[in-house]
Amino acid sequence: MPILNVTDRDGSEKQVDVTMTESLMHVLRDAGYHIAAECGGAAACGTCHVYVDEAWLSKLPEAGEIEAEMVDLLEETKPTSRLSCQVQMDDSLDGLKVTLAPEE
Ligand code: FES
Repeated sequence: MPILNVTDRDGSEKQVDVTMTESLMHVLRDAGYHIAAECGGAAACGTCHVYVDEAWLSKLPEAGEIEAEMVDLLEETKPTSRLSCQVQMDDSLDGLKVTLAPEE
């Protein structure tokens, strides 16, 4: 199963084993990262905002319209911003690097 490289909001880095095919948001929460996920993964709250490493961005399916609209409403966005609830983990993302965005 894939490994995820996560940088927390304080800059600390960790590797996380992905044991199930599930959303990146769930993987991060299961690993103990603080993600409020107020909307439960419906791309409607923005609290699961992450920055994807540039080298990985093109390997992810493009953000859908609802995700893109939600990201537009966030303040701390970068070109690499994604909602982690909309990123489905699978073996093709082994080694994916993400950084948690600041809480808004
Ligand atoms: S959990 Fe709410 S937008 Fe992802």
